[in-house]
Amino acid sequence: MQVYLETYGCQMNEYDSELVRTILQNGSFRMTPELDDADVVLLNTCAIRESAHQRIHGRLGHLYQLKKRNPRLIVGVLGCMAQSLKQELLDAHPVVDLIAGPDAYKKLPRLIHAVCDSGQKGLEIDLSEYETYSDIVPERVPGVNAWIACMRGCDNFCTFCVVPYTRGRERSRDPENIVAEARQLAAAGHKQVTLLGQNVNSYRFESTDFAALLLRVAALPGIERVRFTSPHPKDFPRRLLQAIASHPKLCKHIHLPLQAGNDAVLERMRRTYTRQEFLALVDEIRATLPEVCLSTDVICGFPGEDDAAFADTVAVLEQVRFDSAFIFKYSERRNTIAQRKFADDVLEAVKSERVVQLVALQKSISLERHRRAIGSTLPVLLEGTSRKSSADLLGRDDGNRCVVVPGAGLAPGMLVPVRILAASAHTLLGQALTPAGSRVGSRP
Ligand code: SAH
Ligand code: SF4
Ligand code: F3S
Repeated sequence: MQVYLETYGCQMNEYDSELVRTILQNGSFRMTPELDDADVVLLNTCAIRESAHQRIHGRLGHLYQLKKRNPRLIVGVLGCMAQSLKQELLDAHPVVDLIAGPDAYKKLPRLIHAVCDSGQKGLEIDLSEYETYSDIVPERVPGVNAWIACMRGCDNFCTFCVVPYTRGRERSRDPENIVAEARQLAAAGHKQVTLLGQNVNSYRFESTDFAALLLRVAALPGIERVRFTSPHPKDFPRRLLQAIASHPKLCKHIHLPLQAGNDAVLERMRRTYTRQEFLALVDEIRATLPEVCLSTDVICGFPGEDDAAFADTVAVLEQVRFDSAFIFKYSERRNTIAQRKFADDVLEAVKSERVVQLVALQKSISLERHRRAIGSTLPVLLEGTSRKSSADLLGRDDGNRCVVVPGAGLAPGMLVPVRILAASAHTLLGQALTPAGSRVGSRP
C-alpha cells in the first residue's frame, strides 16, 4: 500500500513524521509524494492554537471529496490534534478511519492493516510514560539540517498550553542513542543537527545533563553546527551557557520564550519567572555570549491582560531587543488550566490589535539589529535555494539569521564566509568570500 503523509506544526512533528515514515517502510508500506497515488493518507497534526485545528478541519473536508471518488482510501489523523480530540474527531469527520497519538506510531502498520481488513475505525491514543522511539533511527530527507528529538513530552503545564496533554509526561532519551544517531547523520552528509525538546533544560539521563549531551554531539567529526530548541527561562543552567561559549560548533543562538512581560500575567500563565528574572537571565546570557542572537515567543491577549499589562510586554521587547520574535494571539485550548480557571476575556479585536502592534515593533527592532551586521563577515552554512530567485542560495549564520547570497560556484552544505552588504527585517543579503577574501559568485 502507498502512503501519503502530510505534516503540520512544530519541528517535533517533522521529526515524528520521519519516524512514522521509517516505521511504515519497515512494515512494508511505500511512501508516495503524490496524494492522488495514495491508498492511505495520513495527516500529522498540531493542536497548539485554534487556527491549527481549523486547517485540519479544512483539509479533512477536501479529503472527504477525494474519498467520494475513491471509497477505498484510508484517512488517518496522527499527532497532537488526534491525541486531544480522540473519538470526537471520528464523530465529526466520517472520512477519518484511524486516529493515532504521538506515542502510538509503532502500532501504525498493524492499525492500518486492521482498518483495511475489517472496515472498522481504529483508535490508538494511549500516551506512554516511556516511549522515546530510541530504538528507531528515522530515515531523513537528504539535506543540510537534521532534527533529533532528545526528549519527549512536557511536565511544565504552562496554563495556556495543550502540549502536556497531547504529548504526555516528560522523558529523556538515552544519550548513547542520540550520539549514535548524530554520528550516522554526519556520515550521511548532514552538516547541522538540531536537538529538540519542549524544555531541553530539564534533559537528564542518569548522569548526563543537556550541556554534556550538547558537547558530546558537537565533538562528532562531520557535524559543523549544533542547535537546540527550546530552553525554558525558569531554569536556564549556567553550565549550559558555559558549554555554548566553550565550543565553536555550538551555535550562538538561543530561543528564549518570554510569553509576556507582566508579572501578574506570567504568574497566571504559570511560567514561574518574573519579568526581572527574565531580564537578568538575558543580561547573563549576553555577558557570557556577547555575539548571541536571541529570539522569543510572545502571546497577546492572555486572560486578564489589560492595557497596562500589555504595555509591560511592549517595554520588555523594547528593552531586550530580540533579533526575532514569534507573536501569537492567545487561543483558548480545551482542558488546559487557563480554560478551567480564567475567562478568555480579551476581545478578539484587542488581541489582533496587540499582535499587529508587536509585529510592527519587532520588525523595526529586527531591522535595526540586522543593519548592524552590514559590513561584517559572517560564517554561513548554505542550506538550499532561495525562494525568490533560483540563482541565489539561502543559508544561516551562527545566530540563525537568514542570509541570501548569489549562488554561482556554491552549493548547499558549504560553510562559507559571507560579507554582509544589505539587510531587511527578515534577511541579510551578502556575497560569499573564499577564505582568502576574494569573491565567489556574482549576481547575474
Ligand atoms: N515548548 C516550547 C513551546 C512550544 S509551543 C517552549 O516552551 O518554548 C510554541 C509557542 O506557541 C509557545 O512558546 C507559545 O508562545 C505559543 N502558544 C502555546 N500555546 C498557545 C495558546 N494557547 N495560544 C497562543 N499561543 C500559544
Ligand atoms: Fe507548553 Fe510550557 Fe511545556 Fe512549552 S514549557 S510545551 S509552553 S507547557
Ligand atoms: Fe508541536 Fe503543535 Fe504538538 S506545536 S507539540 S505539533 S501541539
